[in-house]
Amino acid sequence: MKLRHLAIGLLVLVLVGAGGFLALAWRSEIAPVERAEAASFAPELVQRGADLAAVGNCVVCHTAPGGKPFAGGLGLPTPFGTIYATNITPDAETGIGRWSEAAFSRSMREGVDREGRHLYPAFPYDHFTLVTDDDNRALYAYLMTREPVSAEAPANELPFPLNVRMVLAGWKLLFFREGPFQPDPAKDGTWNRGAYLAEGLGHCGACHTPRNVFGAERKGDAHWAGGEAEGWTAYALNEASPAPIPWDVDSLTHYLHKGWEARHGVARGPMAPVNTNLGTLPEEESRAIATYVASRMGEPSPERAARAQRLLAEEEAHAPGTLAPSAGSQAPPAVHDAADRGAVLYAGACSTCHDAGRPLPYGGLRLDHSTAISGPTPANPIHVILNGIPAPEGERGPIMPGYAGALDDGQIADLLAYMRRTFSDRPAWDDPAELIAKSRARGAEGGQRSLPTASDAPANPSKREPTW
Ligand code: HEC
Ligand code: HEC
Ligand code: HEC
Repeated sequence: MKLRHLAIGLLVLVLVGAGGFLALAWRSEIAPVERAEAASFAPELVQRGADLAAVGNCVVCHTAPGGKPFAGGLGLPTPFGTIYATNITPDAETGIGRWSEAAFSRSMREGVDREGRHLYPAFPYDHFTLVTDDDNRALYAYLMTREPVSAEAPANELPFPLNVRMVLAGWKLLFFREGPFQPDPAKDGTWNRGAYLAEGLGHCGACHTPRNVFGAERKGDAHWAGGEAEGWTAYALNEASPAPIPWDVDSLTHYLHKGWEARHGVARGPMAPVNTNLGTLPEEESRAIATYVASRMGEPSPERAARAQRLLAEEEAHAPGTLAPSAGSQAPPAVHDAADRGAVLYAGACSTCHDAGRPLPYGGLRLDHSTAISGPTPANPIHVILNGIPAPEGERGPIMPGYAGALDDGQIADLLAYMRRTFSDRPAWDDPAELIAKSRARGAEGGQRSLPTASDAPANPSKREPTW
């Protein structure tokens, strides 16, 4: 069914692409320029560009594993094939050294390269289109003052007709609305700043919004309704947020700026570099984004608020170690089903950290507070159980051991059944066998993403606060 959908979809795309061709498809080349001297850019402008590039996560996509920052070559898997991020260092031949500021701004606003070719929306210009001319100027100054690196990105691996860039004109006609951002006059400056950063450079929706068969983010109610990123679940950030303790502006600010929050846990997987990057900016920027996110989540329903109150009261009342049966202290529960088998494993392997009442970020979260256990899929807890939580390189951080070698797939499924039944009010997850196998196959690689900015950072190391 899905494939047939896709086939029909492709046909429509090709037709619309052909139709839209005359009106939209053709874009002129912008003449190459001599590479601008790094010294010609004001240091304040470059600094502002560094902050904006951190919000945009440019370095995360534009750096291959072990490669030079911004030199491209990272393959982004999409349902259609692999698209490689290009070299955006100021190298004249293989990078964007010969791009004028106008050519750069056009690529951000319209998703077109200097020569006039349409770019794939794996480059999130459907968000970056909101960026103002002023901010594009700062980003340009920042990129043009990076070290030029000679590196050619591999050719994209896409089937016909998707390898024909002209088809993207049809995609844009259907799904792309050009910016820049229009502030909402009914809202205050902080909210508008947050909306600008979150919907624009921060491209939160690229992961947190579900996509249609054309790979475009769905609109309307689906906006921020929860999506997927590299095999991780990116939870809903609207009123459907599954967080057991509802988020508010303060907790969101802390989480975005520091990468963890006392009653929500630690950010992992593809979210971790987002937080690390935001942590390099003044806290007001995270607060602005948090203000906007909290307004999209709205007030929790009375039932949800009451449940959260109950959980917090239980946290007060429970002495550490009494949340779940701990190893040895009680008779093990009678074993009847998967969840009962999981209870035994949990008591032996997990409860010492997760029920000990040790404060975060070093202690493990009470799992009845965990979005991971109340989320729509068990993908994230599976990644965490298999790979653990390694301390960030060269920094102190929370540590959880990985259990890939200690627990087999069946035991992990038992643990998941137990945690879901005990620590959430949601129905049991579907059989997790396939997700566990997939996560295992990806190995620790899929577990955590480190941020290339940290060490070889051309960014602003002096301003970078330790995350922990
Ligand atoms: C989610 C991954 C991702 C992020 C984040 C990202 N890019 Fe890209 N970018 C890509 C991909 C993939 C391409 C190549 C698209 C193509 O080949 O059509 C690209 C292409 C580009 C291009 C066109 C270069 C050329 O040679 O045609 C520019 C300019 C660019 N990105 C700048 C940026 C900037 C600036 C940021 C941060 C504000 C950024 N990108 C963030 C994935 C990303
Ligand atoms: C590259 C994909 C990606 C991008 C971009 C991204 N997120 Fe996330 N986000 C995730 C994933 C995956 C998780 C789940 C992480 C985990 O389980 O620790 C997450 C978790 C979160 C959470 C925790 C939700 C909860 O209930 O526990 C918040 C809040 C959040 N993101 C906000 C944002 C905001 C705001 C932005 C934009 C500034 C953003 N994210 C951009 C992938 C992303
Ligand atoms: C040495 C202590 C330790 C042990 C043992 C441990 N964990 Fe953790 N765990 C942590 C820390 C620290 C974190 C990060 C803080 C957080 O988010 O809870 C974490 C995070 C998690 C999370 C993510 C919670 C969230 O939403 O943020 C899950 C799920 C989890 N652990 C499950 C388990 C399971 C299942 C076991 C047993 C197989 C286990 N842990 C054993 C320390 C531990």
